[in-house]
Amino acid sequence: MTKLGRLFPLPLRLCASALILMKAALLFSIILAMPVIAEESEPAPKSIDGKDVPPIEKLVLLKGNVKAGEAIFKDPKTANCVNCHRMGDMGKEVGPPLDSIGEKPKEVLFESILQPSAAIQHGFETYAIKTKDGVLLTGLLIEETEEHLLLRDATGEQIEIAPAKVLKKLRQEKSMMPEGLSGLMTLQELVDLVEFLASKRVGQ
Ligand code: HEC
Repeated sequence: MTKLGRLFPLPLRLCASALILMKAALLFSIILAMPVIAEESEPAPKSIDGKDVPPIEKLVLLKGNVKAGEAIFKDPKTANCVNCHRMGDMGKEVGPPLDSIGEKPKEVLFESILQPSAAIQHGFETYAIKTKDGVLLTGLLIEETEEHLLLRDATGEQIEIAPAKVLKKLRQEKSMMPEGLSGLMTLQELVDLVEFLASKRVGQ
């Protein structure tokens, strides 16, 4: 029998270990909650009038206008999405074509615009390449073979590089799609834009 055992009867000892377990569980849940707290403290994206864009779960409840959204999508003075996305016969192909983007839920569409780097589409990662003669290039790495590397920059221009010339090749954390595009439009225009994207399904 240990000293503790002699001093405290069994029910009391059980109580003490239950207390320790509870403390451990509390500590564990605090640790688990920490990344959530860190995420929430990130500043909210703004719309053109400087107001905070509401969280995505609120945005998806707002109703948009497809026709107005299409105008925003094409307008070079606001979002200029067509500078980087092909849809039907409009737009350039820098990022992924958006012909059937409406297959994805609205939550994902809002996130793609508000936090482009949160989930970068596979095959559309940005790379920085430093060549042996000291040139730094960035773009989407669209092809990599033994003969060449093919980078596509934000203007849609393709750059061909011989593998022997590459000094360093680094994948970037950031999407080539700019952050803060919501800052170029009103909240209603953002909702209209997503309504337009959501209407784009295969065969439509
Ligand atoms: C400078 C180029 C550029 C501009 C401008 C741009 N995008 Fe993008 N976009 C990209 C690239 C590159 C990706 C792929 C990488 C990624 O997922 O972030 C992308 C990804 C997306 C996706 C996700 C596609 C998918 O299949 O999941 C959506 C939706 C999107 N863009 C919509 C828009 C809209 C709407 C606008 C205009 C407000 C816009 N983009 C402006 C380059 C751009």
